Parts: sequence; structure tokens; C-alpha cells
Amino acid sequence: MFPPVWSMDDLPSEFPTQGFEFRVVDLSKGPWLPLVRRFFDQQSERERAEFHMGNTLLEEIHSNPIARYFGVVRPSGPGLVGFMGTWIVDWEAEIHHFFIDPSYRGKGLGSLLLARFLRYAEETGIRRVYLEVRASNLSARNVYSRLGFLPSGIREHYYQGPSEDAVLMVYNAGTVEGNGNENPSPSSGPVSMEGPLA
Ligand SMILES: CC(C)(COP(=O)(O)OP(=O)(O)OC[C@H]1O[C@@H](n2cnc3c(N)ncnc32)[C@H](O)[C@@H]1OP(=O)(O)O)[C@@H](O)C(=O)NCCC(=O)NCCS
Repeated sequence: MFPPVWSMDDLPSEFPTQGFEFRVVDLSKGPWLPLVRRFFDQQSERERAEFHMGNTLLEEIHSNPIARYFGVVRPSGPGLVGFMGTWIVDWEAEIHHFFIDPSYRGKGLGSLLLARFLRYAEETGIRRVYLEVRASNLSARNVYSRLGFLPSGIREHYYQGPSEDAVLMVYNAGTVEGNGNENPSPSSGPVSMEGPLA
């Protein structure tokens, strides 16, 4: 029912997610859209608005040729528990959505989803991955930094409601020029990928 893309069976022992079955899937393909719609509907109004989880995003997932969306699913539980969205053009990617259901946060799933995307990026020749994040969003910034993203600038007052600066971050894929030792390769981690994403 949930075609596996990446296995999460061999999580390191400190992950509380161990023992549960999680899969990372490509939401841009296959029959995922109804599940994504239900996931959006389950989120609070505030988070739906802040992270643009609505019909426009569903349309984008379905039809934007440069967009790729990946989800974490728990087949034996609620189905989708989080997702990330990227635009990929040639050898560059931009992450513009990254969201884990509140009840599943702090279990390492966001880090695993992102780590697997970075491995996919390395394998498919993507050299740089960009993103921006609210300066106050320390949880997300910590995840990005741990996985090798480096701050590359500030966009003042980029966000509204409330107004806040954006921190720009970039990941240089290790296979091309990398960030030296500061950029640990996700492929050297203790998790394995079962098959190609594409
Ligand atoms: C940002 C977000 C996607 C991170 O997802 P997540 O699954 O909670 O991420 P992780 O669990 O990998 O890491 C988050 C925290 O949990 C901690 N954590 C990770 N694995 C853990 C574990 N096994 N045990 C305990 N804590 C753990 C991490 O250290 C991190 O803590 P920190 O913020 O003190 O560094 C999630 O917080 C979210 O959806 N936020 C709202 C949307 C958002 O802000 N998106 C980013 C927009 S740029």
C-alpha cells in the first residue's frame, strides 16, 4: 500500500522512532495526493496558514515539473507524518517546505527526511541546496546546521506576521566542493537507502 522508497529500519538506537516502521516516499508520484490533503486538513489553522498547506500547494505537488515532494509515512499508524518540498533546476535545489506533524517532532524524523534528501541530491548530481528560515526558528536551524548547512546571508524583514529576518543557508554537496569537515555526508550515516528515489 505504501511503496517504500527509503528504509528507516536501521535507525541508530538512540532514535525513539526505532521499532516503528517509517518510509520516505516521493509524494510527487503515485497515489499520494489524497493522503497529503488529509494531512493538511489535520493540521491547525495557524500552521496551515503559516506553511501554506492548502489547495495551491496540492496543485503544485501534482503539476509543477520542477517540484519534488517527499514524505515520511508510518504505514501502521496515521500514514503521512511529515513532508518536505523542493524545486530542482539543473544542479541546484531549493527547499521551500519542511514540516513534521507536531506530535511526531523531536524524534529525529525531520533530520532523517532531510538527510535522505541530501543523499539523493549527492547521488543525482545536485551541487547546492538552498533554503531560508526564520531567525527565531532554532529547532529548524539546528537540524539544518547539524546536517551541514551553513549560513550564507540574512534577508531583513523577509517574513511577515510577525515581521522577521530570514537566515539564508546553503549546503554544498561534498562530492563537488563541499564544506570541508563541517559538512558531514549524510551517506556516511548509520541509515541505509533501499532503492533509488527517482
Ligand atoms: C523543523 C521541523 C521540520 C523539524 O522536524 P523534527 O522531526 O522535529 O526534527 P528532529 O526531531 O530531527 O530535530 C528537532 C529536535 O529534536 C531533537 N531530536 C532529534 N532526534 C532526537 C531524539 N532521538 N531524541 C530526542 N530529541 C531528538 C533534535 O536535537 C532537535 O532539537 P533541537 O531543536 O534542540 O536541536 C519541525 O520542527 C517542524 O515541522 N516545524 C514547523 C515547520 C517549520 O518550522 N519548518 C521549517 C521551515 S524553514
